[in-house]
Amino acid sequence: MQETSKKIRVFSGVQPTGNLHLGNYLGAIKRFVALQDEHECLYCVVDLHAITVFQDPDELTHNTREVTAAFIAAGIDPTRQIIFNQSQVSGHAELAWIFNCVARLGWLNRMTQFKEKAGKDREKASAGLYVYPNLMAADILLYHATHVPVGEDQKQHLELARDIAQKFNNDFAKTIARADYADDFFPLPEPLIAGPATRVMSFRDGAKKMSKSDPSDLSRINLTDDQDAIAKKIRKAKTDPEPLPSEVEGLEARPEADNLIGIYAALAGTDKASVLGDYGGATFSTLKEALAELATAKLTPIGDEMRRLMADPEEIDRILADGAGRAHTIADPILAKTKDIIGFIRS
Ligand code: AMP
Ligand code: TRP
Repeated sequence: MQETSKKIRVFSGVQPTGNLHLGNYLGAIKRFVALQDEHECLYCVVDLHAITVFQDPDELTHNTREVTAAFIAAGIDPTRQIIFNQSQVSGHAELAWIFNCVARLGWLNRMTQFKEKAGKDREKASAGLYVYPNLMAADILLYHATHVPVGEDQKQHLELARDIAQKFNNDFAKTIARADYADDFFPLPEPLIAGPATRVMSFRDGAKKMSKSDPSDLSRINLTDDQDAIAKKIRKAKTDPEPLPSEVEGLEARPEADNLIGIYAALAGTDKASVLGDYGGATFSTLKEALAELATAKLTPIGDEMRRLMADPEEIDRILADGAGRAHTIADPILAKTKDIIGFIRS
């Protein structure tokens, strides 16, 4: 096996589609920060993914900088790790095309995110939305990344990325072996989905995930919300009439309670059982008061730092350009080998 496929390399992406929220933070960004001390990490603002649904150009530019600012404000160090926007490294689009020719229609037809996003009128969805998971596989495999921290909703896409890697390795086994890459040119990437908040739910409806596109701003806490907004949204969050249970099993079939306890645990860096140890038997209003205080303490410094960074867009663009240059250095030889394996002539 090649050196590049052996070591741990972390890759993940966030779409610049506005309204970064608590789910993005707890399910993804907070976990990106934790991984950077031990591993080489690439964190990508996936602008090519964003345009699978039309984006206003000025908003796309703004949102790309805002996700970058959120990464840095949350604690990712752009001098140690690579932060960049996807469209600056053309290998993502090139490898995605190759994967369009590896992935099978039957595989894509099973993707639940496409079904949700395309809605009833599938004929009107962009072709890009349909092949989006192939681009996501390309993002990861372009760097021979081995580990991918994501929220629960991305599990199915990660499985597809593994299927694509496996099929490519099988289809091209002959030239992979000839070039002495052993039989596994692309590593099968592992999802890292863990902790008490892998699926943060809407504050308005415990059956729906917290999402950037929910028309109700009360459904989510945005990373740029101030103390008053955070407290108000938590106070108004939907609950049920029972007091909180003392055991984790008591959260089953109580999605709103489960959500608030999971959020508290993730923000406090503990688990649900220990939060219930403190709040079992208490009313929702007691929990909500404590949660508002904790969420404010953890989130408002991030929002403040994001605003400070956003005041200097040239500096953000410089960080992205620097990250893209370093991403190219890793991606270019992997893409070149991929082309050799397929049989493309290159100069
Ligand atoms: P997106 O906003 O779709 O670009 O998602 C960026 C990252 O945040 C991905 O890893 C998602 O899995 C994660 N994420 C998005 N929404 C949630 C949520 N409600 N709970 C947990 N993680 C989420
Ligand atoms: N599809 C992911 C989402 O919607 C974003 C994403 C794109 C991603 N490329 C990726 C996540 C590569 C992890 C790895 O949230």
